[in-house]
Amino acid sequence: MRCTGSSVSYLASRGAKLRTATSWPFTTFCLLAALTILNIAPAAFAQDQPKRLVALLDYLGSDYKNAVRDGKVLSQDEYGEMQEFSRRSLDLFKQLKEIDKADKAGVEPALKSLASQIENKADPKTVLELAKRTKEKLIAAYNIVPYPRQLPTFASGKKLYDENCAQCHGAPARATARAASR
Ligand code: HEC
Repeated sequence: MRCTGSSVSYLASRGAKLRTATSWPFTTFCLLAALTILNIAPAAFAQDQPKRLVALLDYLGSDYKNAVRDGKVLSQDEYGEMQEFSRRSLDLFKQLKEIDKADKAGVEPALKSLASQIENKADPKTVLELAKRTKEKLIAAYNIVPYPRQLPTFASGKKLYDENCAQCHGAPARATARAASR
């Protein structure tokens, strides 16, 4: 389980210094933040595709560096995930194009070249930049708010944690609780 993607760029975009912090409470916080932000509904909701595409591109852009370096696969798992996500981004785009009867955000060429960059094990910086530009076009074209409208409160985070995580990670949050350290 990693904490990248929307939660990190959200924090970064708010100018938070937290980016360099890797403590467990931070990890938990950003995971909960990611859960709140991504909150991805099923594909049945038509106008959901742009948001899901943004989330995918965000994740792709920030995680690709863990998959490929100097044209070589660093981790087969990570690389497989990147390939899967780029396929999924093309599927989502296809659905979106059918709904809109057009490429409203003008991202089709970019999504295609992103997929071939990933296939050709391109440089992470190139992939990140293209993913970012494409994401921004979608955000602009569909008026997406890519971060929560309000900062999550500690109380609601604690409640979520107590309900969903504490049984394995213990309270207070630790990664060393027995069920999670097995
Ligand atoms: C059913 C038990 C269980 C529940 C419930 C659970 N986790 Fe975990 N969690 C684990 C296990 C097992 C690991 C893997 C530990 C390992 O691989 O060292 C883990 C790993 C993690 C990691 C990675 C830790 C690291 O150091 O890499 C994070 C972050 C995390 N969990 C957060 C959460 C959050 C947030 C919740 C609640 C939304 C949650 N977990 C709910 C069992 C659970």
